[in-house]
Amino acid sequence: MSLEAEVLALKEERNALLLAHNYQLPEVQDAADLVGDSLYLSRKAAETDRPVICFAGVRFMAETAKILNPEKTVLLPDLAAGCGLADAITAEQLRTWKGEHPGAVVVAYVNTSADVKAEADYCCTSSNAVRIVGGLPPEKEVLFLPDVFLGEWVRAQTGRKNMHLWTGDCPVHAKLRPETLRMARAAHPEAEVVAHPECGCGTAALPHVDRILSTDGMVRFASETRAKEVLVATEVGILHRMRKLNPETNFLPIQEGAICPYMKQIDLTDVRDSLAQLRFQIEVPTETARKARLSLERMIAS
Ligand code: 13P
Ligand code: SF4
Repeated sequence: MSLEAEVLALKEERNALLLAHNYQLPEVQDAADLVGDSLYLSRKAAETDRPVICFAGVRFMAETAKILNPEKTVLLPDLAAGCGLADAITAEQLRTWKGEHPGAVVVAYVNTSADVKAEADYCCTSSNAVRIVGGLPPEKEVLFLPDVFLGEWVRAQTGRKNMHLWTGDCPVHAKLRPETLRMARAAHPEAEVVAHPECGCGTAALPHVDRILSTDGMVRFASETRAKEVLVATEVGILHRMRKLNPETNFLPIQEGAICPYMKQIDLTDVRDSLAQLRFQIEVPTETARKARLSLERMIAS
């Protein structure tokens, strides 16, 4: 039996939902029931009635699924699938920061640990960060964490002055600088350019970018564009879906080396073993999950 067939059979046997993030390896995306961005996958994890969720993504995504649907068995096929951005702030650091700004509203990007989410008022993803921050009472101070580039972009979009930013970044996106974009654009002057808001080019790159989009925003854009060439400023895993959806357009990475090592931890063998042995089961302490659930429910409702 092929590896793909084994995965399919095990999914059926376990009655499992296999979710894959847009940055996963092509073989994993192709075997998944659903592929998408953080917001879409969180919503699907929250609403599934299948007893097992196998999350081909990174740890904070599997934790989010467990918090939103605690009765289910949530599997992360490789525990080394972390996130450099989520490591940029601890719950202790956040408590100290909150102490310096009493009364501020805390908005945590979903790329955070469960302990950090438990200290937040709202969670958001790249798809709804502007909507969530824009909907907060204007007089309230906002603490936005941990991604400084996403924060700068949200600040520019909402025009909000009373927004403090934690200075974390994603090690993959932070390397995509305005110069990277300028050079790619000079080499492909006719190309349209899309960028993820975590990019280190942040607001400084806006003149060089046609759209700033979440990964699912990029996928939607891919299916609609009639451009001959599109430069894509994010992790290269997204190109698989974009190219599949629209073979007429030439989708090019802004930087070939924009590869997230965490997102590449899981291969199809890991998925097979995870389903076969029900490993590695993600657990979140009850009290942490209870506190984090409120901010996550606000995120998936928005
Ligand atoms: P999206 O929510 O846009 O998929 O982003 C997740 C992520 O980890 C980006 O680095
Ligand atoms: Fe985390 Fe960056 Fe990898 Fe996304 S691309 S999972 S933010 S390290």
